[in-house]
Amino acid sequence: MFTLRRAQEADRAALYRICLETGDSGQDATAIYADPLLLGHIYAGPYLSFAPDFAFVLEDEAGVGGYVLGAPETRTFEDTLEQAWWPPLRAQFPVPPADPAARTPDERLTALIHQPRRTPGTLLANFPAHLHIDLLPRAQGGGRGRQLMDTLLEALRVTGVPGVHLGVGERNVRAQGFYRHLGFEELGRTPGAVTFGRRL
Ligand code: ACO
Repeated sequence: MFTLRRAQEADRAALYRICLETGDSGQDATAIYADPLLLGHIYAGPYLSFAPDFAFVLEDEAGVGGYVLGAPETRTFEDTLEQAWWPPLRAQFPVPPADPAARTPDERLTALIHQPRRTPGTLLANFPAHLHIDLLPRAQGGGRGRQLMDTLLEALRVTGVPGVHLGVGERNVRAQGFYRHLGFEELGRTPGAVTFGRRL
């Protein structure tokens, strides 16, 4: 039996672990990265720190088994991270090699710490919010992904957010099917990733 609740600071380690254990196109990425916290520094930690009203978790007797993390105003969120989140991480992790082909998996992530992607303004005009959702295998496939999404989308809607976007790995066809089923439309593709959006 899972319960759904707002995420708390005490969940931080669990969010980082789930981020890693679903970080290879939905599969466990533990064997890929030498530093187990890197994925979480980018895709989980900042949301708990700077958008806690839009962070929800599923919990059962074994602990936290999934989350959805959102940011209502992506540009404001990016600016906040530039001021307050990335600087200490930049001091901690060296600048990776300039040639992307020469980077290790960890260095591909530290490149995102030193040069975070800025979301195109054309996308933000209609879909200013964005989100990440990850459930461990024991929580998947029972309607709980939809439950988490409904909870976050309603929280965004009552805040007055007109639309939400997300990026998903090209290889993660399961999650792509899930988003399409929930009414998201494909907005574009870059090498390796698909962008989806949904009006609220
Ligand atoms: N194709 C079509 N429909 C689907 C698919 C699919 N691949 N997957 C689920 N659905 C449908 C279900 O049948 C269900 O339909 P219904 O409500 O009409 O009966 C509905 O979508 C909801 O399914 P859930 O059971 O809630 O899905 P689940 O709990 O497995 O959550 C998720 C989906 C979030 C992808 C989960 O499996 C997961 O966390 N996977 C691993 C991590 C991952 O890949 N995360 C996405 C990363 S990308 C990002 O965060 C932006």
